[in-house]
Amino acid sequence: MRHFTSITQLGDLKNALMAAKYVKENPYADKALGENKTALLVFFNNSLRTRLSTQKAALNLGMNVIVLDVNQGAWKLETERGVIMDGDKSEHLLEAIPVMASYCDVIGVRSFARFESKEDDYNEVILNQFIQHSGKPVFSMEAATRHPLQTFADLITIEEYKKTTRPKVVLTWAPHPKALPQAVPNSFAEGLNMTGYDFVIANPEGYDLAPEFVGNARVTHNQDEALEGADFVYAKNWSAYEGDNYGKVLNQDRSWTISSEKMALTNNAFFMHCLPVRRNMIVTDDVIEAPTSLVIPEAANRVVSAQTVLKMILEDNK
Ligand code: CP
Repeated sequence: MRHFTSITQLGDLKNALMAAKYVKENPYADKALGENKTALLVFFNNSLRTRLSTQKAALNLGMNVIVLDVNQGAWKLETERGVIMDGDKSEHLLEAIPVMASYCDVIGVRSFARFESKEDDYNEVILNQFIQHSGKPVFSMEAATRHPLQTFADLITIEEYKKTTRPKVVLTWAPHPKALPQAVPNSFAEGLNMTGYDFVIANPEGYDLAPEFVGNARVTHNQDEALEGADFVYAKNWSAYEGDNYGKVLNQDRSWTISSEKMALTNNAFFMHCLPVRRNMIVTDDVIEAPTSLVIPEAANRVVSAQTVLKMILEDNK
């Protein structure tokens, strides 16, 4: 693997999950692999889990780590070519990328959808500029359309907790006051399509995800029907994808909040969310605090997913 921008680049999922299990059980076994290698983590957006778990993963592999918060202390970056730079942006990404690349061996990039242009977001213009101009392996720490390190951690967590070989997994939209990207649900759907699980996506009308991510999932606009018999409930908000509504919040329908009444419809399902989560908008206090809530082990598995991916990149780019 040269770059990691989609869960599909892991190849055979069973092998990847076995590799992750090995990493989890032997976190320091590959300490020599990253010796004298430097990971640069570039954040265009805020982060708690990705920032810490990816640093921890790199350190477990013996790497050095540099973190850059682009919006805190760096020069303000222009990302469009052809712009006359007479405004507040002092440096162009086209110089910044090769300069950053000269200080490291692997680059992680977090660059969310900006909702200025659906085409730019879905073409991953920032992430792809890093791939094109850095000359180094690049991995996504959540880009405009996908969050593959999160999805890999989600799949690892489901693998650990599933009680049947083919669990029913429900990805459900839940309300939120702000416009959030589709990256997490897109990526989760992409990952679930690689499993043989019974996979259902529930969202209100107007919130259907892009068909290329929905894949073979059953889509319903009836959350209660979707939750019936579910083994895992993965809640997440996302803004509208379709047409002129791209990036818009169409409603904040609180009847879609995951509550104990909603969970009672399931097969004593585990609750999952990538975090951060807004309590009593997405999920009620009692559901997220219940023994069936997996949000903490799911977040802990972010180290495992990042370490497994970094290990693959280091092994394949010696
Ligand atoms: N789930 C996740 O990516 O968390 P952060 O945004 O805090 O990194």
